[in-house]
Amino acid sequence: MPRNASTRSRDGSRRRHASVLLLTCAAIAACVFAFASCSKKSSSDSGSESKPLVVGFSQIGAESSWRTAETKSIRDEAKKRGVDLRLYDAQQKQENQIKAINSFIAQRVDAIILAPVVETGWEPVLTQAKAAGIPVILVDRGVKVSDDSLYTTLIASDFVAEGRMAAQWLAKALNGAGNIVELQGTPGSAPASDRKKGFEEGIAPHAGLKITRSQTGEFTRAKGKEVMEAFLKAAPGQVNAVYAHNDDMALGAIQAIEEAGLKPGTDILIVSIDGVRAAFEAMVAGKLNCTVECNPLLGPAAFDAVEMVLAGETLPKNIVVQDRVFDQSTAAEVIDSREY
Ligand code: AHR
Repeated sequence: MPRNASTRSRDGSRRRHASVLLLTCAAIAACVFAFASCSKKSSSDSGSESKPLVVGFSQIGAESSWRTAETKSIRDEAKKRGVDLRLYDAQQKQENQIKAINSFIAQRVDAIILAPVVETGWEPVLTQAKAAGIPVILVDRGVKVSDDSLYTTLIASDFVAEGRMAAQWLAKALNGAGNIVELQGTPGSAPASDRKKGFEEGIAPHAGLKITRSQTGEFTRAKGKEVMEAFLKAAPGQVNAVYAHNDDMALGAIQAIEEAGLKPGTDILIVSIDGVRAAFEAMVAGKLNCTVECNPLLGPAAFDAVEMVLAGETLPKNIVVQDRVFDQSTAAEVIDSREY
């Protein structure tokens, strides 16, 4: 073989070896990279520390300023804790809340926070969440289910006690006698039935106190006004007091009373529930007499509960939020300290 030819052949074989080596290195690098991304994906799937908690929140809607404050509290707290919050507004419809929960289950969220619009009809979807191993934290309103293991805990005010406190305040202000009209909350909701029950219990010892009319104002200012207009037309001059299941309806009733040429807070006493800022303003203006607080700032407690249940801790079935009564005697003094 000519010398040149043998040199060329040795050079060619060296080049072939180099290319094989390069290809092998590239293949190994590709495998290592693929393995690394595979293991990264599976570790994030199984909830490694670097992955944020994913929490679904099924909210009722935005019917009142109380509800808006609750949504803000949950949003703010999620942001503070670095939680990936998936918030669905159900526009007052239970079917939309059920759809949201089913979608949270499909998304394999770590936990679900639910503010249920009504009390009944939750068993099937909560059973599915439980089967998927997703804990459900109820906030603000309770549900009626035969098996209370379908949810982890309920963080809420005692609505019956709120109704009772409103009744006791009004019984005293009316000296135990008078005609009361009632603006109820959303039919079938825990606060509507419990606040009615508590109020009826509270006025029961006073034979002179009567609920002469009672209708839903759906927890909204517009509907509260509309219903109050109808009450005033149906019994002119015969309404001594209004009991509204929330401040927004009371504020609507105030408008109706003024438009009827009467003085709210004087001609007709008004007591309601929630303790939102606008209610304090109305008390300072002498138009609302009393509001029973119902604290909507449930974000911190809700995410504490989420973190505890995911850490395997057992929570009490009921976490009761403490509320107070405010009337015109302290409204001006405390208004600036109100957080919602
Ligand atoms: O469930 C709490 C009630 O719902 C609040 O009192 C009311 O304002 C809201 O819409």
